[in-house]
Amino acid sequence: MKIDLSTTIGPNQFSNPLINAAGVWDETALELDELVASTAGGVTTKSATLEPRSGNQRPRYADVALGSINSMGLPNQGLKYYLNYVTTHDASKPIDLSIANPNPMDNLTALQMIQDSSFQGLTELNLSCPNVIGKPQIGYDLAALKQILQQAFKLFTKPLGIKLPPYFDLQQFDAVADILNQFPLTFINTINSVGNGLLVDPTSERTLIEPKGGFGGIGGAYVKPVALANVHAFRSRLKPTIKIIGTGGVRNGTDVFELILCGADAVSVGTTLMQAGPQLFTKLQDELIQLMVQKHYPSLATFRNQLKAAH
Ligand code: SIN
Repeated sequence: MKIDLSTTIGPNQFSNPLINAAGVWDETALELDELVASTAGGVTTKSATLEPRSGNQRPRYADVALGSINSMGLPNQGLKYYLNYVTTHDASKPIDLSIANPNPMDNLTALQMIQDSSFQGLTELNLSCPNVIGKPQIGYDLAALKQILQQAFKLFTKPLGIKLPPYFDLQQFDAVADILNQFPLTFINTINSVGNGLLVDPTSERTLIEPKGGFGGIGGAYVKPVALANVHAFRSRLKPTIKIIGTGGVRNGTDVFELILCGADAVSVGTTLMQAGPQLFTKLQDELIQLMVQKHYPSLATFRNQLKAAH
């Protein structure tokens, strides 16, 4: 049986739905080159600020059996570095250029720089980093969310998506979708890590990471149900032109399948990629193909957003 894993987001055609989550294996050109050379369908760059940042104090990332905690604090090489990379790289697969600026006005400056550049790929405005000390996540301030989108679309005409934090209440899904549907967004990426969780080491009686007293974004298997819920809730509320990158808790091909079943157009992988490296993409694709063969689904479109309720 011939299996077609291709998918589309805006003008970008992906040979398969798998992408790295922003912040994983993507801070330097060397890492990005490894992703481009891998079997990933697309590549996301580390969320860039206008100026380079060294990020929060270490230890700022820890793996545990069910996932990870991080408070990286946006360590990155600065937007010019990533703009240079994406406008000069081997264009064999789509690139998603991620930006995240703790000062909202800097996001507008960043968008203007991208608008004025020759970059033609996807831009992802990260409104959900939980780890910048003293700065709340814009995605939880609905007035600020609407305002930044209003300002962004006044100056930006290229394909734009936003990275959202997880939401937990059906009224939040309604309210956020109502805002997003007012704008010509190309995609959303849902979810960022579950912000401000806490993991402790019972032996040392210490937090696993240092910044923010140990509070950090939780990823991995812990967050899969939240990711599935956010993808499905937004798929049933957003206009069909807004595509969805589903992120959260992917460890195997079945997890990829489930996110697409809930409505994802593409799937990004964070914690497991951090643990296993870019060869993971081949394993995930093989497992996804095997499952699709078993279920007689020749393409992603044949099961995307086809989740049925239990009875
Ligand atoms: C970080 O750099 O702190 C992680 C980025 C994010 O969660 O958006």
